[in-house]
Amino acid sequence: MPACITSHTGCPANMLRLKRSAEILLRRLDIAGSELSILLVDDAEIAELNRRWFNRARPTNVISFGQHYGLPGDAGSQIVQADIPVSRRVVPAVLGDIVISVETARREAVQADTTLDHRLTALMIHGLAHLMGEDHELGPDEAIGMARVEMNLAEFLYKEEIMADLCINVDHIATIRQARGTDEPDPVIAAGIVELAGADGIVVHLREDRRHIQDRDVELLRQTIKTRMTLEMAATDEMIRIASRIKPDIVTLVPEKRRELTTEGGLDVVNLEAGLTDAVSRLHGAGIPVSLFVDPEESQIEASAGTGTDCIEIHTGRYADAATPDEEDREFEHIVNAARLADGLGLRVHAGHGLNYRNTSRIAAVSEICEFSIGHAVIAHSAIVGLDRAVKEMLSLVKKGTPE
Ligand code: PXP
Repeated sequence: MPACITSHTGCPANMLRLKRSAEILLRRLDIAGSELSILLVDDAEIAELNRRWFNRARPTNVISFGQHYGLPGDAGSQIVQADIPVSRRVVPAVLGDIVISVETARREAVQADTTLDHRLTALMIHGLAHLMGEDHELGPDEAIGMARVEMNLAEFLYKEEIMADLCINVDHIATIRQARGTDEPDPVIAAGIVELAGADGIVVHLREDRRHIQDRDVELLRQTIKTRMTLEMAATDEMIRIASRIKPDIVTLVPEKRRELTTEGGLDVVNLEAGLTDAVSRLHGAGIPVSLFVDPEESQIEASAGTGTDCIEIHTGRYADAATPDEEDREFEHIVNAARLADGLGLRVHAGHGLNYRNTSRIAAVSEICEFSIGHAVIAHSAIVGLDRAVKEMLSLVKKGTPE
């Protein structure tokens, strides 16, 4: 993983946010293949590092330890050298370590009237600038240069949305309603509660057989959703006509088989590229952005880029259904590789299917994924704890989870 974060001080901050921020900046700096380690410590531990490496027996806020930039004769890990010209840098497999004292960061946050998360991000950026060869201690010009680099990185980061969005699929509220053929529970009311709980969007799948969501739901949801509406559907003429009239904020094209319990597998974009290209272009013609639901496979992602789609949603079902930890690790790697490939091809990356309260935080740490679509686990949990709490618990995994 490009950014790995460890805390020796418990988990005082939003580590997931810091990890995603670091990875976004590594991509910005074109060194996404390089590994960066971030270690959160207390004052005593950073004071000891400060004494050992800099002969200064006091705590500080951040220290960077860089791997050299591959210059001849360099060996091992040492304090980063600021005077290596950018043109001579060869980005190493391991960029280095940034050690941050959370105790000092917290004091500085109070003094600056800001949050601990903001202060930690600023210190991470400072450490990263050092690892890239900047050094404010060399003189006033270098200090100005380094401050400029930090400002640019911070500005870039705050323009990006750092945490992934969570969109809740409310199909199974409609499944309960359809089980009795009555008019409750109403997915339209459920969508309102989901939005008030803080979710970033609502997803519904209008199936050809109308087994849960009905045309009436889609019409009313379009009028009432305040966040954004994702319409999942098959790439059929009927569905493209409905979407073009309703105008959801985005359409996710999925494969649909009549007898399946839920969507099984991603689209076979490799073999259906011409038809999907046509569907994407018709939806674009109606002003609707499109996402393709695909398995985490290189050939499918590459074919997806060829259709003109805006986005892919990675099918996380095989990861979610993994029978052993080894299998889960392998499926996780496929998802990470697929997300990186799609991001590199300029596609927005979403993910979903089978995600639950146990397996979501690991995926939420993949910084290329900017949106999750989760349904069954949240609706099932809501039957026990209520919809508001079920959504809030999932939001906290997606936005505040602890990376491995
Ligand atoms: N994404 C897509 C494309 C889906 O078809 C579904 C299931 O409707 C989901 C996400 C959500 O899956 P789950 O209900 O297992 O969370």
